[in-house]
Amino acid sequence: MLKTKLIRTYSLLLAAILLITACNDKESVPSRVNFTEHVAPILYANCAICHRPGGNAHFSLVTYAEAKNYAGAIAYVTREHLMPPWPADPHYTQFVGQRLLSERDIKVLQKWVEQGSEEGPANQLPALPKYPVGSTIGTPDMRIPVQPFFLKANSSDRFLLVKVPFELPNDTFASVIEFAPGNKNVVHHVNGDMIKYQFDKKTDVFAGEKVVDMVEDSTILQAYQRLKLPNDDGSYPVLQKSVVNYLPGVFAQRYPEGLGGYFLPRKGAFLLNDLHYGFTSKDDIWDSSYINIFFAKIPPSRPVKEFQLGTLGVSPVEPDLVIQPNTVKHVSSHFKVPKDISVLTINPHMHLLGKSFKAYALQPNGDTIRLISIPNWDFNWQYFYTFKKMVKIPAGSTIVAEGVYDNTRQNPNNPFSPPQLVRDRNGSMKATDEMFQFIITYLPYVEGDENVSLER
Ligand code: HEC
Repeated sequence: MLKTKLIRTYSLLLAAILLITACNDKESVPSRVNFTEHVAPILYANCAICHRPGGNAHFSLVTYAEAKNYAGAIAYVTREHLMPPWPADPHYTQFVGQRLLSERDIKVLQKWVEQGSEEGPANQLPALPKYPVGSTIGTPDMRIPVQPFFLKANSSDRFLLVKVPFELPNDTFASVIEFAPGNKNVVHHVNGDMIKYQFDKKTDVFAGEKVVDMVEDSTILQAYQRLKLPNDDGSYPVLQKSVVNYLPGVFAQRYPEGLGGYFLPRKGAFLLNDLHYGFTSKDDIWDSSYINIFFAKIPPSRPVKEFQLGTLGVSPVEPDLVIQPNTVKHVSSHFKVPKDISVLTINPHMHLLGKSFKAYALQPNGDTIRLISIPNWDFNWQYFYTFKKMVKIPAGSTIVAEGVYDNTRQNPNNPFSPPQLVRDRNGSMKATDEMFQFIITYLPYVEGDENVSLER
């Protein structure tokens, strides 16, 4: 009896030691580092999602030749924590799908470059993971084309109001609605609503124009008429705000089945409020974007809600977002939460003068709930950050968002040289105007929410 117990203890101990050694092996940096055995696994797991043919980045890091060509830069950007891009400070808060390299992996990449970037045995090269095509997260159940748009060479910012109509066999539910930009170099951002028609009130959702250039049109109501958005009797259908958004670098967020999601009527249309083409290219370009729909397997029981602090939000920016040239400006926005909420996802938003961003909630008992800290704001990476578990913010707490803007010459992203007065213009989305926003998606709190994992 005692003997079996002892043997069991010993074998457990042995297993534990073996496990530790195995982990150590994986964690240790090999004495000679090569591409196929050591570097490729790191690049494929952390970089290739963007650095591959068809990825977000302009160059691929998939083959030995490609990686060797960028060896010095790879060592630099990983040592400086510039790549993979993850502006949020992981010591402040952690999120689903965060892109971070381990210290071990950073050391391996440095050593590979120091030792002359060897290739290693070709047969050791791991298989490249399979990546979704035309989506950031998978194979959509349905793709609705956005009317292709022609952009003349060297044109300036364009802001379009676009209707993307759809008709389905039945009313149904979607778990994810994703905007898939056709030409990632020119599509700057999108904020889209959904129009839900009552079946018998609208004969033809496809009638009318699909695109209105907002510079040409005087009023939004005239634009709505041209797009034929009203019901047949002239009344207006139900509009659900912000169901499909796109910002640079954003990956569609996907909650566990049953959480979040959207009701899709048989007849409807997405209304892209400000499809912003920001880039001026030397060549004429056609953009063909899509809206990807992932149907829900079970009807969502708890629809996600959203509000925002700051520009056009529930609480003002203080002081006003007017940034004098050659100054560094601090602003904040405060909002007292009337009811208990469970926060799912947050999205800090600033433009090119942004320098840092921080948000937290002060509870009535004085405790602080950390939300996010971005010590070095990066305009190119404005993620929707999803918490690993829902974060409860109790009623009476004050959410505080703080931003710092750098309108000096020292800011390499300053759009003006010499610096000029830059301000918030009623939420003008132009990159040369500024904004200060903190978007929060949440659910009304239900007991136990803080234990619900949002990882998939
Ligand atoms: C989420 C997408 C994404 C991921 C993940 C990513 N990168 Fe990048 N990377 C970019 C983009 C976009 C650029 C900007 C250049 C461009 O537009 O192609 C860039 C630029 C770079 C540069 C060039 C910097 C310069 O301008 O000289 C290097 C080197 C680089 N990445 C290496 C890496 C490495 C190594 C990893 C993984 C450890 C990684 N990247 C992960 C998107 C990504």
